[in-house]
Amino acid sequence: MTDKPILVLGATGKTGRRVAELLWNRGYAVRQGSRQASTAFDWMDRGTWDAALDGVSAVYISYFPDLAAPGAPEAIAAFTARAMAKGVRRQVLLSGRGEEEAQRAEDVLRLSGADWTILRASWFAQNFSESVFLDLIRGGTVALAAGDIPEPFVDADDIAEIAAKVLTEDGHAGRLYELTGPACLTFAEAVAEIARATGRPIRYVRITLAEQAAGLAAAGTPPEVIDLVTYLFTTVLDGRNAQVADGVQRALGRPARSFADYAARAAATGIWSV
Ligand SMILES: NC(=O)c1ccc[n+]([C@@H]2O[C@H](COP(=O)([O-])OP(=O)(O)OC[C@H]3O[C@@H](n4cnc5c(N)ncnc54)[C@H](OP(=O)(O)O)[C@@H]3O)[C@@H](O)[C@H]2O)c1
Repeated sequence: MTDKPILVLGATGKTGRRVAELLWNRGYAVRQGSRQASTAFDWMDRGTWDAALDGVSAVYISYFPDLAAPGAPEAIAAFTARAMAKGVRRQVLLSGRGEEEAQRAEDVLRLSGADWTILRASWFAQNFSESVFLDLIRGGTVALAAGDIPEPFVDADDIAEIAAKVLTEDGHAGRLYELTGPACLTFAEAVAEIARATGRPIRYVRITLAEQAAGLAAAGTPPEVIDLVTYLFTTVLDGRNAQVADGVQRALGRPARSFADYAARAAATGIWSV
């Protein structure tokens, strides 16, 4: 263990918050990478990067909004170069499964000279409770453009546990962990699982991509975010990710948490209560 802090980017987000918490609970010093932190970190303002990286021993890189967004590989290239210049060799990148741009960002890190580890994750289960799909679940009707192609939703708690491990233990440099849940579920099956956990009738309705985009626009979603969502629902959700991987088992020595387990834990917090 070192007294130097570990920089956790996205420290108020779905995985970063959990990574920071696990590290704190294990006695590690953590520097929060957030625009609200005392040493603010902003992907859009490179002038904030050096101070965030000053004196840290390792960094968890969670990019925002998504590694598939235009400019993401370039931002990762610039960031990892700054980290290397500041002597931060251990760099752990959260990546997205089946995303060409994300894989370009991975390549950048691999070639940077860093002691890299890549966590290549499928869609997070927590998107239903901490993100874009939460209001739909609360409203009782989840209308989305996903059809019968299943996705092996991964639990953000598993991702965080692995991140905390590889940030603090040796033996993970140069490794890529492909992280999924233990089974593939269609969106309709995932919503049915959440309905079971909450005891509420929540239904899934398949709509077209155009209807989905129009709904997002009506809700005030910025055009670039609508484009990103459309990309994720077409390119990424085309069947390329419709198989499970063994990254959680390899990294933690135990199976990945199931979607049903996630749904039960999320329901118990009351997040889906109306
Ligand atoms: N969601 C998924 O299903 C999924 C699946 C695979 C991979 N990924 C990857 O995971 C990464 C994070 O996605 P996520 O959906 O989980 O988001 P998230 O981490 O929940 O996003 C919120 C976080 O981003 C931070 N943030 C927002 N704007 C920022 C900025 N300009 N500069 C610095 N930090 C900023 C927020 O911090 P403050 O507001 O406090 O600044 C907050 O900590 C993405 O790169 C994505 O490609 C996501």
